[in-house]
Amino acid sequence: MGEEIKKIGVLTSGGDAPGMNAAIRAVVRSSFYYGIEAVGIYRGFEGMIDGDFETLDVRSVNHILGKGGTVLKSARCLDFYHSDVRAKAADKLRHAGIDAVVTIGGNGTFTGAKLLSEEQNIPVIGVPGTIDNDLHGSDYTIGFDTANNVVLEAIDNIRNTAMSHNRLFFVEVMGRESGYIAAFTGLASGAFGILIPEKESSFEELIEKLDTGRKNGKTSSIVVVAEGNKWGGAYKIKQMIKEKASHYDAKVSILGHTQRGGVPTCFDRILASRLGVAAVEGLKYGKTGVMAGVIKNEIKYTSFEDAIEFKDYVDDEIVRVAEILSI
Ligand code: F6P
Repeated sequence: MGEEIKKIGVLTSGGDAPGMNAAIRAVVRSSFYYGIEAVGIYRGFEGMIDGDFETLDVRSVNHILGKGGTVLKSARCLDFYHSDVRAKAADKLRHAGIDAVVTIGGNGTFTGAKLLSEEQNIPVIGVPGTIDNDLHGSDYTIGFDTANNVVLEAIDNIRNTAMSHNRLFFVEVMGRESGYIAAFTGLASGAFGILIPEKESSFEELIEKLDTGRKNGKTSSIVVVAEGNKWGGAYKIKQMIKEKASHYDAKVSILGHTQRGGVPTCFDRILASRLGVAAVEGLKYGKTGVMAGVIKNEIKYTSFEDAIEFKDYVDDEIVRVAEILSI
């Protein structure tokens, strides 16, 4: 066991994710439970550099459990890639008496967290908060389930209008490097096709399949497209259709940031609560440089390095099942 932790700083960083507030609440309340003071660090690493801190007492996190976004605000802080900036941030932490940090976020957040813990010898534990679900070391990340449900509701709505007009829709969802949202919501919405960054797809085959579907009585179709898919965004695909398959009048719907703003689902609130507590307990028992995750329903700690390096990719089986069912 390391030195006794008396004050934990908590921050949210990178793209916000529904359930981050539930994780903040869990960190604050469990710190209090263990007699540790909790301090909110605003705007992620940006706020750490500026010393934008506020003591969070046990009541300060009342009623945030069910709110989307993050009360601590978030930022993508490129300056934190510089070691002199990290040293300055560490000084601010020491000056405020913060002797350990919980960072809630995704890949970029853990890259910064890893450097901070290694270089500055400050104990840091990460909590996976990203709608992308692309971190190794947790079966699911906080926000993924909520984002899926937001997308699903939108696709169900699009389905109604697509059916009324016998139309083909390309629905673009988030995921610059990750096809999780596209694959899960594609399967759950009965989409005709799924295009993800992890998988090559043939344009000719898609058109052939669409044509066959039309011949067999299919009147409307929805293709879910991850923003980082191999053909480019949904508008680029619409252009390809115009040029090579002009018998279709493709419509595009880009769901954008609405996917990040949903009310956290029961699943995300529970996941965030468990991981917030696991982060504080990990620090209390001397862990550092790791991300708390849930694997097969058990709390596990994975090094930042592995969490970032061994990025999890969408299970082929999800896409395969969606393909079988989309005839
Ligand atoms: O990292 C989560 C994520 O939502 C990605 O899926 C998406 O590509 C990106 O953030 C968008 O980030 P920003 O809001 O900074 O444009």
